[in-house]
Amino acid sequence: MSVLSGKKGVILGVGNQRSIAWAVAEHLHKQGAELALTYLIDPKGRFESNVKNLGEKVNASLIKDCDVSDDNSIRSLINSLNDHWGELDFLIHSLAFAEQKDLQMDFSSTSRIGFAKAHEISAFSLLPLVEGVAPMMKKRGGGSIISMSFIGSNLAVPHYHVMGPAKASLEASSRYLARELGPENIRVNVVSSGAIKTLSSAGIKDFAELMRVGAEHSAMKRTVTQDEVAQTTLFLASDASSGITGQVIYVDCGYSIMAN
Ligand SMILES: NC(=O)c1ccc[n+]([C@@H]2O[C@H](COP(=O)([O-])OP(=O)(O)OC[C@H]3O[C@@H](n4cnc5c(N)ncnc54)[C@H](O)[C@@H]3O)[C@@H](O)[C@H]2O)c1
Repeated sequence: MSVLSGKKGVILGVGNQRSIAWAVAEHLHKQGAELALTYLIDPKGRFESNVKNLGEKVNASLIKDCDVSDDNSIRSLINSLNDHWGELDFLIHSLAFAEQKDLQMDFSSTSRIGFAKAHEISAFSLLPLVEGVAPMMKKRGGGSIISMSFIGSNLAVPHYHVMGPAKASLEASSRYLARELGPENIRVNVVSSGAIKTLSSAGIKDFAELMRVGAEHSAMKRTVTQDEVAQTTLFLASDASSGITGQVIYVDCGYSIMAN
């Protein structure tokens, strides 16, 4: 039997085929999960059409727009999940945002609004989503919530700038959510991925160099793949990780353990 058969969950953060969330959806589907996918509305409708293509591949039973910077949009997603399933086993938060200009200038020049926006979308958004899905998970006797982080939460990574404190906030928020929801058997964990070339990471200045250094200074002398991050996400979504909560799990070919 597949490890996720009978489980239902929602994945936020598919933008295109390179998205970590895309690989997550494929792996979770392969293991029998029933999926809901969300997309961010963009002017050319590219995310929507990419997510619809993925939805066909993974037989998604619900596809819905969701902009996590908008309370009404989050509420509308929660209502749709309630109407569609009424119960939920997992939520994958695989999204982040920072203003391009805040990733190009000195960190101390980050604008007030840019700092707030990066934190709001990349970290705060987890809270209303969790608040919305927790009652549906309680009906299932528990659930698993997983988000994506980067070592820039702990280390001052070149050009990662405002995303560093935003990821630190995401990781700390996950620990507080894990504490709050632990008694309900709802687990909250974070996967900290090594550098991968995606649409978001392309916005980080000198990202190719960051990847080169990431590989060179890792224990395994290479970078990770979306599939490897997805496999660990699958483990955290499954009952195989039933005793794990509040953790940040590094999937980075051992970059984070090296004293260079
Ligand atoms: N690529 C890397 O090197 C790397 C490393 C570690 C962690 N991560 C994290 O992995 C996650 C996924 O990123 P990715 O690399 O797959 O890039 P990606 O660009 O494919 O995915 C980011 C997603 O965020 C979504 N998004 C942005 N603003 C949003 C909003 N307001 N509402 C809803 N969705 C919104 C975008 O639509 C996009 O689908 C992010 O949290 C990212 O920080 C990425």
